[in-house]
Amino acid sequence: MTDLQNSELPRTVLVTGGAGFIGSALVRYLLTKTTAKVVNVDKMTYAANPLTLETLLRIRQHQHIQVDICDEKAMADIIDETAPDIVIHLAAESHVDRSIDGPADFVRTNILGTYTLLEVVARYRRERAAPELKDLRFVNVSTDEVYGSLGPDKQFFEESAYNPNSPYAATKAAADHLTRAWHTTYGLETIVTNASNNYGPYQFPEKLIPRTIIRALLGQSIEVYGQGTNVRDWIHVDDHAEALWLAAVKGRPGRTYNIGAESECQNLDLVRRLCAILDDNCPEAAPHGRHIAFVADRPGHDHRYALNPSRIQKELGWQPSISFDDGLRSTVSWYLENRTWWEPLLEKSYDGGRLGQNIQ
Ligand code: NAD
Ligand code: DAU
Repeated sequence: MTDLQNSELPRTVLVTGGAGFIGSALVRYLLTKTTAKVVNVDKMTYAANPLTLETLLRIRQHQHIQVDICDEKAMADIIDETAPDIVIHLAAESHVDRSIDGPADFVRTNILGTYTLLEVVARYRRERAAPELKDLRFVNVSTDEVYGSLGPDKQFFEESAYNPNSPYAATKAAADHLTRAWHTTYGLETIVTNASNNYGPYQFPEKLIPRTIIRALLGQSIEVYGQGTNVRDWIHVDDHAEALWLAAVKGRPGRTYNIGAESECQNLDLVRRLCAILDDNCPEAAPHGRHIAFVADRPGHDHRYALNPSRIQKELGWQPSISFDDGLRSTVSWYLENRTWWEPLLEKSYDGGRLGQNIQ
């Protein structure tokens, strides 16, 4: 869609969290649509499935390094050796329910890790006098959850006040503020993106859409928190990946961009839509909706998110291209066709059970 796909600048892009859900979609996007060399830095936590990287590791344009972004020395060495033009930072603890059970890892990776990266990148830029390094860009990939919770109407704009409610959202807000400060204070060319709920292939089964699909397939209860009236605003992960690359290359330093596809849906409606798609695909097990069960609400559950994406649309010319209906159908198909990707996870790293109830 953009001239960026065939950019004559074969950049080196350092992606953090590139073995996770969105990071791996971005890596696939970069490897197929650009000539950039991709350095993929990931600690390989529970959220990173090695199978996600399997085919990518065979591509010479792609280099994966297993490392913790909080390790300052290791990160400084990697930046020195790979000399990136752009850093796109996605590594994070990403699941709200887990942040309720244990916020420490979130504070460490999301705040301290982002600080460490900013420091290392800013120092590299300062100490290496090469003029082109002045353009070194740092994109902090963030979330709409920093803005808090909406009532039945209105949308979040880039100017909306920060009002994070979960430990996860609070740590992401802190990372956004640090990123902004490194621009204002040290002149680092930073960009912050705030995206809505992503869905698509390779998403870890703890999140609503894959958890619903998998539990329905296994004939287990499909757990809807509270009354299922909470609203999320959904974007396909491939549309997000494209927007991230556009923001990284064309975005204005110091600026923030909301990335959303204006696809709002109540949780209960979404779960019912998924069940209907499963009924079409697996009529022998229909109706999947019979497994729906209302369970205790998430503590501090934000009621509604809705992002206004007009800035990135008008200023950078981005538009999502995957409709919510098509995206949901292809996502269900992907989980049906890729049991070998998710089944081992249920054995090894997550049993599919309820998280976020162990209030400290
Ligand atoms: P994910 O949990 O699927 O992946 C996170 C990745 O980061 C994993 O591969 C993990 O191994 C890696 N990681 C975690 N801690 C690390 C550390 N200390 N050092 C190096 N790597 C580490 O997350 P995701 O859903 O792909 O989200 C990616 C980013 O996008 C996050 O920053 C998240 O806050 C943000 N985001 C997510 C969504 C969404 O709906 N999933 C929406 C908006 C923004
Ligand atoms: O809005 C962007 C955020 O979206 C990202 O920043 C986060 O990284 C990502 O995890 C996601 O956060 P949510 O909390 O919105 O996603 P989750 O899939 O956990 O839940 C979506 C909604 O569904 C939420 O209202 C809680 C509800 N829910 C969730 C699960 C897992 C259920 O009703 N049942 C469930 O089993």
